[in-house]
Amino acid sequence: MDETTLPQAFRVTLLPQQWTFDASPDQTLLLAGLAAGIRLPHSCRNGTCRACITQMTAGDIQYRIEWPGLSREEKQEGWILPCVAQPRSDITLDAPAATHIVNAPRPVVLQAPRPPDPMASDRDADVRVST
Ligand code: FES
Repeated sequence: MDETTLPQAFRVTLLPQQWTFDASPDQTLLLAGLAAGIRLPHSCRNGTCRACITQMTAGDIQYRIEWPGLSREEKQEGWILPCVAQPRSDITLDAPAATHIVNAPRPVVLQAPRPPDPMASDRDADVRVST
């Protein structure tokens, strides 16, 4: 497909969750997923650490860098690096480690007990209750 005739967005499907999101041709799959509330495992975001390595079971991508950190064999087997991969067709990824950010468990924030207010205890001592 000619770069000038690319559609505005392609559909990305994640398996086994069956989650989908759209990615524009100039957007990486990782960032398009994050924009849609879906987090794929990642770290460096520049194609070197391989934390995001994912198997593409259908579709076509183009890398935004010249040498993504994959061997020729890995590429032939369908492994891609979503942090530097831009869609050139609808895509299907085998991504069991993906998480939906909206449904992710919220962190628990623990608060230390508040120290007693010395002014309040003095004030309380002066209070008299008449019956
Ligand atoms: S996040 Fe490091 S290679 Fe993709």
